[in-house]
Formats: sequence, structure tokens, C-alpha cells
Amino acid sequence: MESIIVRGNGALSGQIPIAGAKNACLTLMPATLLSDEPLTLTNAPRLSDIRTMTELLQSLGAEVSTTQDGQVLVLSSQKLSSTRADYDIVRKMRASILVLGPLLAREGRAEVSLPGGCAIGARPVDLHLRALEAMGAEMELRDGYVHASAPGGLKGGVFEFPTVSVGATENALMAATLAKGTTVLKNAAREPEIVDLAQCLRRMGARIAGEGSRTITIEGVDRLGGATHPVVTDRIELGTYMLAPAICGGEVECLGGRIDLVGAFCEKLDAAGISVAQTGAGVKVSRTNGGIRAVDVTTEPFPGFPTDLQAQMMALLCMAEGTSVLEEKIFENRFMHAPELMRMGADIDVSGGTATVRGVERLKGAPVMATDLRASVSLILAGLAAEGETIVNRVYHLDRGYERVEEKLGNVGAHIERVSGQ
Ligand code: UD1
Repeated sequence: MESIIVRGNGALSGQIPIAGAKNACLTLMPATLLSDEPLTLTNAPRLSDIRTMTELLQSLGAEVSTTQDGQVLVLSSQKLSSTRADYDIVRKMRASILVLGPLLAREGRAEVSLPGGCAIGARPVDLHLRALEAMGAEMELRDGYVHASAPGGLKGGVFEFPTVSVGATENALMAATLAKGTTVLKNAAREPEIVDLAQCLRRMGARIAGEGSRTITIEGVDRLGGATHPVVTDRIELGTYMLAPAICGGEVECLGGRIDLVGAFCEKLDAAGISVAQTGAGVKVSRTNGGIRAVDVTTEPFPGFPTDLQAQMMALLCMAEGTSVLEEKIFENRFMHAPELMRMGADIDVSGGTATVRGVERLKGAPVMATDLRASVSLILAGLAAEGETIVNRVYHLDRGYERVEEKLGNVGAHIERVSGQ
């Protein structure tokens, strides 16, 4: 098994290119199922989750080819050979549920394995099912699978999400593009990945209005065509690398970064004493003098502070002057990085969905265990500022969401290497 070794660092300096968004790409790829013409995605990230989605789409009969550099995906679903998303693939990645809406819309039926629990809480899929039911789909849960059907085709409907869900909004949005009549999704997610999906679907011929606001209106069309679409910048990778100079000191420019994708996060960095500026090429972050100030953070749906940056922000606040309170409002059980950070000398109390972090002067390197994707990168960030050596085990979590992390951080002066067999 591979591990990443990080040695405590001085100031960082240089540029880090930010990839296309994993979470956007994972919802754009299933959109191929809506059309018999090719969908080309450019600026795709090179990650194991993208390979898992490729495998899933291929199991349904889609053809997926990738350019040599892995950044362009050409997906074609001229004929589908199956409507069943098997447990063996779905259990590896929750985003597999995103084939449900497109399969139902195109084929009038789908059988998708229930994803099951995962390391950051129960994460049910009831809202995905209820939104599709509002479009006339019938759902039955049997043998660990959702058996969905819409014999006469999906029909436009009105659905108000009781809580904001990114994935359920995406599933409903895709399905509604081919439903008969008009669908209105209320209390929809407003994440940039939703806006990106709507833009791609519109390029394919869909009629959508209101993406990025709380209400999305979709007028169903008879068919969708092919399109070429660039995947939006990964705001979570951006925020993660913005924290590297914030933690270690120095100045780093994140190429392709956009402050509007991480507004609430930038406000917290500013309050913590970190300088952030939009440049022509990306986002420049620096901490050249002065320490890190404590700030309170509450995770919320977009445009609020993203839950996917909570673990990394905690790594920064471990070394702040004063006490910070982090409240996790999206997922239960998403503080599993806290005990690992404490093994490095952090002073953290977790009680329910609240973590109280009392800043310490210095963390100390230690062997630590990554428990999920964002937790693993928070341990790398903490290791960059710790005294001595930090060994992060179970890095397969990291490879799901961060491409070439050692190279990207190494190029700005971080002491980081991947080793096998630890
Ligand atoms: C997506 C992102 C994930 C991010 C999350 C929140 C992808 C592939 N993943 O996950 O990285 O952390 O948004 O920004 O894009 N919920 C229900 N019933 C449902 C669906 C969700 O109760 O049917 C709850 C969840 O348990 C959670 C909340 O709604 O408490 C938000 O989850 P959701 O926005 O759906 O997250 P994902 O789409 O799974």
C-alpha cells in the first residue's frame, strides 16, 4: 500500500495549476446517457473516481475514450446495452447514483444499487428518488437496488427539495431535460457544478433557466444532441492549495483559480490574516508576515463555506492564535481527521457537529491514517507545517480526488514524496 511522506517545510513559492472539478465531471459524464450523439468533455481531471465512472458507463454500453494526457473524454451512448448499475461499481463511489435520472429519462427504466453508508455519515438517496417520483417515476426498493420505471416516459412536475442536495438536484435536472412538459425544481442546489451541468445540457439542446438560483425551470425536449464542454475549475482543489501557503507561509498562485468559486472561503482566509487576490492567471495567496488568526467556520450549501474544505481549514486553524469553532452542518460524522490531527499535537474537542480548535504554536510529525478524501489532504497540509516527518497512510482516498498532489506541492517547494509498501 502506498503512503505519502511529508517533511515540515519553510515558506512555499510558485504556481500550482488547478484541474477541472471532479464533482462536476462526475455529473457531466452520465449526461452522455441522455443522447445518442457524442459528448466531449475537455479539462477533465485525471482521477480514480473518473475511471470508476468510466467503468460504470461502459457497463451500461457507453463508449468512453480518453486522450493520452487524460484531459479530454469522449463519451458516446449510441446504444445502451444495460440499465443496471451494479453493486460492485456503485459501492466504490456514491456518485454512481447519478446514472439513475438519465437512464430513466432515456430508457424508461433503471436498476441502480443503493450506495450504502460511507465514512462521512449515512448519506441517504431519498431525495433523488422523490424528485424523480415527482416526474411520474415509480420506485421500488428490492434486493439492495432501486428499481425505477417510467413506462409512459417521465412527465414534468414540480418538486421542492426539503433540504438542499447537490446530487439530487443533478439527477432531477438531467432527467427533466427529456421529460414531457415543464419541471420546476425549488430549493435547488446552487453549486457551481450545477451551473456547469446546466450549461453543458443546454449545449446538448436542453431548455433550462434559473441554474445558480434556488429555482430551476426545465422545459423537456424530445431529444438531446452532442456537445463539447469544458469542465469548470475544481473549487475544492483550489481551496486546498490556497491553504498551502496560508499554512507554511510564502506566496503561491493557483492557476485557473477564480475567487467567485470560493467566496465564503476567501472571507474566512481574510479574517485569518491571509492575503488573497485575483490575478489574470488565477488566485494569488500569501502570508508573508504575521501569524494566523483564529476564525469560526460553519459549513453550508453554496454560496456558504463548503463542507469539502472544512478538514483542510481545520489544519490551518490548528496553528492559529486563539480558539476557533468549526460547525459541520452538511454531514454528520465528518470530523474523523480531528483525532489524527491531535496525534500531531493539535488541541481539538469534538462534540457532535462542533469542533473547538485551540491553536498551538507548532504541530509535530506523526504517522497518521487518512479516513476519507478531504481528511487525507488536510493531514498532508498539516504535515507541511509540522516539525519532522508525517507519514499519511491509505492514500488511495487521496487519489480519488487529487491528481499528482506530490508534483503540484513539490513544485512550490514542499518536501513531499510517495512511497510504496509502508
Ligand atoms: C456532493 C459532493 C460532495 C459534497 C456534497 C455537499 C459530488 C460527487 N459530491 O455530494 O463532495 O460534500 O455534495 O456539498 O458532487 N441528503 C439526504 N437525502 C438525499 C441526498 C442527500 O438526506 O437523497 C442529505 C445528505 O445526507 C447531506 C445533505 O443532504 O446531509 C447534502 O448532501 P448532498 O448535497 O446530496 O451531497 P452529495 O450530492 O452526495
